[in-house]
Amino acid sequence: MEFREPIPGLENVPIKYTKITYIDGEKGELYYRGYNIVDLFNNSTYEETAYLLLFGKLPSPHDLEKFKEHMFEGRRTALEVIEEVSRLSTENALDRIKIGLILATKYVDSWPRFRGKQVVVDELLAVAPKILGLVHALTAYAVSLDPNIVEENLEASCAELLCKALVSDCMQKHIHILDKLLIVYADHGLSASAFAATVVASTLSSLLYALEAAISALQGPLHGGALEKVARMLEAIPLEKVEEYVSRKLAQKEKLMGFGHRVYKTYDPRAKLLKRLAAKLALNNNGLREAYLKAIALELHALKTLAAKRVYPNVDFWAATLLLIMGVRPENQLPVFVYSRTAGWLAHIIEYLENNKILRPRAIYRGPLGLKYRPLESR
Ligand SMILES: CC(C)(COP(=O)(O)OP(=O)(O)OC[C@H]1O[C@@H](n2cnc3c(N)ncnc32)[C@H](O)[C@@H]1OP(=O)(O)O)[C@@H](O)C(=O)NCCC(=O)NCCS
Repeated sequence: MEFREPIPGLENVPIKYTKITYIDGEKGELYYRGYNIVDLFNNSTYEETAYLLLFGKLPSPHDLEKFKEHMFEGRRTALEVIEEVSRLSTENALDRIKIGLILATKYVDSWPRFRGKQVVVDELLAVAPKILGLVHALTAYAVSLDPNIVEENLEASCAELLCKALVSDCMQKHIHILDKLLIVYADHGLSASAFAATVVASTLSSLLYALEAAISALQGPLHGGALEKVARMLEAIPLEKVEEYVSRKLAQKEKLMGFGHRVYKTYDPRAKLLKRLAAKLALNNNGLREAYLKAIALELHALKTLAAKRVYPNVDFWAATLLLIMGVRPENQLPVFVYSRTAGWLAHIIEYLENNKILRPRAIYRGPLGLKYRPLESR
């Protein structure tokens, strides 16, 4: 059999057709199901956006009510899981969410079934809102460690539940900002985490295990892990040292966290939207405005060098700044990404399963053959 050369990082290798998300990296545009992210950001809510990603159309008022009821059912299911997770010793919020997903397989029927040769996609779409609610509840507990947080907010909006769990002094303006943040993070095509989830789902494993894999992929610093790193960087550098920090990093050919993107070769449209929100919030927030001032200074100095390479701030840069201004600790920032992106992950998994084929690429063998085994003592 003939083989082509390996393609590092599978860059630009298509594995499916999609109707979920379109990204124009040259123009800096992002669309969910045909709707420009700017339009959704200005006019939609996270609940509507999650529905849109999963079901391919904006919900009617009735659709939205049903969708929320199913999410609330997922939150209620999570109560038993949270009880179990709370008894375990866990390292961090993401571990708590992952363990919760594994334990939840007892309570949620999350395994794909067949009708003839086809996966029954309708069943997966029916359970998806419940799983989304479950993940939201697990995340709310994981960041707050408050065993009552979900029960006390069982029918709160997604942004409100998150705000109560995350922000010590949660106000209406914070809920509004989190709602917008959740919209921009809800999907981004076949990112490493969406791909990891798809690989697991393609074996017809549980949707909950697929989500667990997605979170593991997200944790790396080249993907969502950048969010926490940006937050820690902004906390660590004093404002008057920002210019020196940027110059040193770039002189040493090191990467600045929160800059650059594999797809966007211009300003990330999500970063643009979040930067505006950060500016507004910082103006009204004397105490924590420092993070915003540092971010502005960092962007200014970095772009003097990086704009020529078409490297701009990405979504994580401005999301981390925004969350810091709201007082969200760096270690609690990546769970916000999980809270939001679960909608996109589920949409991608289910879309792939419509025409499922197990994802099984090949490695081209270049090692020796015919070696003879020698007993341990003679080696
Ligand atoms: C996201 C990322 C992995 C994309 O990488 P990529 O598309 O493979 O781009 P490359 O790494 O090939 O970079 C192209 C050029 O821009 C430079 N560059 C890219 N991102 C940079 C950054 N964050 N800081 C400084 N320089 C950067 C590279 O050094 C390279 O310069 P060179 O041509 O002089 O060698 C990369 O930009 C990065 O590591 N960013 C920091 C981590 C981050 O914020 N991740 C979140 C992504 S949403």
